[in-house]
Amino acid sequence: MVSQILSLAAKAKADIESATTSEAIDDIIKGFLGKNGGLGEILKGIKDLPDDQKKLVGPEANKQKDALLSFAEQKKSALAEAALTAALETSTFDPTMPGKKNLNLEQLGGLSPFTRMADKAVRVFEKLGFAVWDGGDIVNDFENFGALNFPDDHPAREMHDTFYVEQGYLLRTHTSTLQYHILKTKDFPIRAIVPGKCFRNEATDARHEAIFTQLEGIVVDTNITVTHLIATLELFLKEIFEEDVKTRIRPGYFPFVEPGLELEIHCLVCHGSGCRLCKGLGWIEVMPCGMIHPNVLKNAGVDPEKYSGFAFGFGLSRLTQLKYAIADCRLMYADDPKFLGQFQ
Ligand code: DAH
Repeated sequence: MVSQILSLAAKAKADIESATTSEAIDDIIKGFLGKNGGLGEILKGIKDLPDDQKKLVGPEANKQKDALLSFAEQKKSALAEAALTAALETSTFDPTMPGKKNLNLEQLGGLSPFTRMADKAVRVFEKLGFAVWDGGDIVNDFENFGALNFPDDHPAREMHDTFYVEQGYLLRTHTSTLQYHILKTKDFPIRAIVPGKCFRNEATDARHEAIFTQLEGIVVDTNITVTHLIATLELFLKEIFEEDVKTRIRPGYFPFVEPGLELEIHCLVCHGSGCRLCKGLGWIEVMPCGMIHPNVLKNAGVDPEKYSGFAFGFGLSRLTQLKYAIADCRLMYADDPKFLGQFQ
């Protein structure tokens, strides 16, 4: 009788193996357990068996029943999974699409004017072939000052009210800190920008924040001149403001450029007649820049006889203020929905 159980179980297992639907599997199980030629019939006959046989047949019947039921369950879930995969492959339903019901644009939010400006600035430079670099907020004194030709006791260091951390480390006061690392790649022609946060220990007012975002840019190759610098920045401004902006150049001092320059634009609010934004001057400084000082090139192992380049660095909030006529830069970080809602 045991061999009969084993052969019934083997047959049922083989049938389940080749079944293609879970209903078919249920039918096979029913047949296997059934009173008509199945396990049920065998169990009915146990009472007529000699005692030693009875002890064998009962446990074996249960063992085979349990094994078969769990095999059937496994097979059923494998079939269900295969069916789901096939359905997903042929389905046009996209579960990642946003829902359409109850769409409330006011609650949806949007990008702040500052983020829009930052994204756009990066996109314009990327279009011009600039690579985007990033670096840590904490840098050493050499990266922030030494490599950029600020001698140890130079008064220009005092123009940067620095947050010192520990053991010669500080919160970067400008994104120019990356110049050293970018130059060291010597991957000419170098064209790179560094958008990122900077930190200065200064009181906040309508035009200053202790934490602010700059965008530094650097171009180095053979025969780079101030003409390339001016053309690049003018093109950038035209793209950002979507109009021809009048610019002028004045001398400026920064230890890491020679000559150092200040690029100013004609005030976009009063068109030169003088207003609060331009402090009555008609012009606004937007981009300090210059030709990279030979010492900066040398510090990074670049030969200043062979290579030249320009650098520029500007605060993104100033440009955002100009583009969207925002009088106070603190508004951009205050997360006030009434303010932000105006730009959606
Ligand atoms: N790093 C300067 C600052 O934060 C800005 C700057 C000036 C960057 C001149 C430059 C540059 O690359 O050429 O004040």
